[in-house]
Amino acid sequence: METAEIRNRWLRFFSERDHAVVPSASLLLDDPNLLFVNAGMVPFKPYFLGQEQPPSKRVTSVQKCVRTLDIEEVGKTTRHGTFFQMNGNFSFGDYFKERAIELAWELVTKPQSEGGYGFPESKLLATVYQDDDEAYGLWKRIAGLPENRIVRLGKKENFWSMGVPGPGGPCSEILIDRGPEYGAEGDVEGAGDRYLEFWNLVFMEFDLSAVRSKDDFDIAGDLPAKSIDTGMGLERVAFLLQGVDNLYEIDEVRPVLDRAADLAGKQYGADHADDVRLRVVADHIRSALMIIGDGVTPGNEGRGYVLRRVLRRAVRSMRLLGVEDPTFPELFAVSKDMMKASYPELETDWARISAIAYAEEEAFRQTLRAGTQIFDMAAIAIKAAGGTQLSGTDAFKLHDTFGFPIDLTLEMASEAGIDVDQQEFRRLMAEQRDRAKADAKAKKTGHLDLSAYRDLAAASGATTFTGYTEVVSEGTVRGLLVDGELASSAHEGNDVELVLDRTPFYAEGGGQLGDHGRITLDNGAVVEVLDVQAPLPGFTVHRARVLSGEVAIGASADASVDLDRRLAISRAHTATHMVHKAFREALGETATQMGSENSPGRLRFDFPNAAAVPPSVLADVEARVNAVLLDDLDVTAEIMSPDQARATGAMALFGEKYGERVRVVSVGDWARELCGGTHTNRTGQLGVVKLLGEASIGAGIRRVEALVGTDAYRFLAREHHLVAQLTEALKVRPEELPERVDGILTRLKDAERELDKLRSGRLLESAPALAAAARDFSGTAVVVSQIPDGTTADDLRALALDIRGRLPVDRAGAVALATVPVDKPIVVVAVNDVARNRGIKAGALVRVAAQALGGGGGGKDDVAQGGGTDPNAVLAALAAVEAAVTAVGIG
Ligand code: SER
Repeated sequence: METAEIRNRWLRFFSERDHAVVPSASLLLDDPNLLFVNAGMVPFKPYFLGQEQPPSKRVTSVQKCVRTLDIEEVGKTTRHGTFFQMNGNFSFGDYFKERAIELAWELVTKPQSEGGYGFPESKLLATVYQDDDEAYGLWKRIAGLPENRIVRLGKKENFWSMGVPGPGGPCSEILIDRGPEYGAEGDVEGAGDRYLEFWNLVFMEFDLSAVRSKDDFDIAGDLPAKSIDTGMGLERVAFLLQGVDNLYEIDEVRPVLDRAADLAGKQYGADHADDVRLRVVADHIRSALMIIGDGVTPGNEGRGYVLRRVLRRAVRSMRLLGVEDPTFPELFAVSKDMMKASYPELETDWARISAIAYAEEEAFRQTLRAGTQIFDMAAIAIKAAGGTQLSGTDAFKLHDTFGFPIDLTLEMASEAGIDVDQQEFRRLMAEQRDRAKADAKAKKTGHLDLSAYRDLAAASGATTFTGYTEVVSEGTVRGLLVDGELASSAHEGNDVELVLDRTPFYAEGGGQLGDHGRITLDNGAVVEVLDVQAPLPGFTVHRARVLSGEVAIGASADASVDLDRRLAISRAHTATHMVHKAFREALGETATQMGSENSPGRLRFDFPNAAAVPPSVLADVEARVNAVLLDDLDVTAEIMSPDQARATGAMALFGEKYGERVRVVSVGDWARELCGGTHTNRTGQLGVVKLLGEASIGAGIRRVEALVGTDAYRFLAREHHLVAQLTEALKVRPEELPERVDGILTRLKDAERELDKLRSGRLLESAPALAAAARDFSGTAVVVSQIPDGTTADDLRALALDIRGRLPVDRAGAVALATVPVDKPIVVVAVNDVARNRGIKAGALVRVAAQALGGGGGGKDDVAQGGGTDPNAVLAALAAVEAAVTAVGIG
């Protein structure tokens, strides 16, 4: 049975039994504790907790999920996938254990010809939580399972939680016995593949406040109503019903595996290690496709890092399979074709998704090339020095700078016949992790532990945002944190996080910075707002300092936004929409915004593009935007359904969360985007937009920065002033400036060259006199001299050689010259053949001199150079050379 059919049967079965069908939520649901949705129930958490009303008391869904905790297991077992789909049926205070078991048993065992999955009853088992006698009895009665096929298990297996605070409860799983070829009979708990769990029924009863591990958690209390959450692994059922061995071979995944095998010229099934790599590729390509599809871009933290890791593991697996050329264009296209039936947005969004994937592959391939060179050089150096081990520091550098996974380094080391100091590597990694943790704590959205905000949100309720139409609003203080702790009041000088029931302050989001301003309380207390964040959706926290008076919960407040700053930010935000639109016109649909920042008078805008954007395109975009400013278009915002928004052609930015009603911001009829930010009323209010240029910010992503309004004007005025100063100084017209400056630079260079020549010539003129002044030390003719400051090392050397050439060839001769080129002294020594044969060596003499100068040096026996730090020791250094020559002569 095809995966799509398994999914259809599921939805049909439950919708015929009064369940409302809910589409899959984005993988990026707004739960601050989860990087990705990892179970079908996640979008329904507020319904279980009684925080929101469900659309219906019974719902069903097929939810996209990502779990990367077991990423190392992918490909090695039959059932570990980083992306999977979970079929679920849910009851919020409606049916409970009995009906849940009835429904599950009916669908699982109903013959395929009647719309069920047709699993043979004799092969099925159920597990229940150890003391859940009720569930035990129900499996006996409803399913008629014999006692030896109902297994009681402990918390670890049969008590389900989200892994983070939230709803949970005892659960009961349905397993299939795959037969003796998959392992020993009766080993239900074991890691083997014989008993495969494919459907989990959770009897949601409790609200968990802390989850330390699967069997160690705190129960805060009962849920408002007993509820049901079930999850059936779509991929697992698919591989069972498709008669294949594992999830990598099901219809939605196998074609990618086959294409990877083709590209590598491998036969799947011929070699275990290669099979694992092919499965990793198939799994990771699909996960990456789905993750990018939902708006994530590769990065170095959070979701972006997970994505990058998955993409790089895929590149690396292909490399281990012997393919060094790019493969993503082939593999992603195959995966998209397999998934688009269930997720049509993959097709409509293909330009963006593929651009991001291909850019990351290209970037990582370059990284591999650069890192491999570094590794090869290190390996050569180690071997040359007779060593056998790559240091932990080098391995760490390869990891940190070049993104080399340690296993790659280990493998390359073993190919090169050396090993790696893994202990030191791990120590450095741990050190870095600690640093990163400390950094994260210090960041402004800090409070890694969001529990304080959850408590605050529970105490104060959601915030009404009035800031689209007002910049001053009356409200009431609903919540207060002082030093991250709930508080009922705060005093002058306290740094607080303050919650109002209504606020005109915009919380940072959608690329727009939070507002600044003041909150004045009815008792006269004044609070200065320094930043505004929404740590939980719809919940605004003002980070502020109490300037005077006392702030208490329940006080009435006048919240007043710093208007000039807000207007400057709004101008930047409207300009971002316009720049976005103009880039899409100039470069095509792929130039879709990936990130932006709107700050007062300034914007930053990131989009995928393989190469630098030529200056002519930047100029066109800037001209286009400024032309639209003159049209003075209206900028309007409307609330509508997502379908209506699509019909108006509004651009949705992935990665942003949109609810059942969305806000569409239009710049005339020209640019339309889903956006929650604040804007100007008309484009004319922007004044002028000046692009400052563009640059790469990694992996095929470009960043443009621009100034808007007064800031743009000031920038242009400053540049104009600079040009005016230059034209005045150089006495030319502005357009003649570049040529004039070029001419000046060329003449300057020529003059410097000439000057150098003269200086060297003049210096060499002193050679005959210096040679004639040679003195005898133990039979060696010695010239020592302090040469005037400012002589270069090259000139000093030339002079030493010239003098040496003038000394008699039939007797020992040595020349030692010292000077101070800039601020540190240098010394050059040259000796002739006779001196060398007597044991007077230039290298040794330089060492003696350099020591006196407070430094070091060396070189060949006939000429050598050194230097030091003490410019006052030049004479002493030269005297030391004379003494050394004398000593050798006597010795
Ligand atoms: N939440 C449970 C699970 O993820 C059942 O949906 O297994």
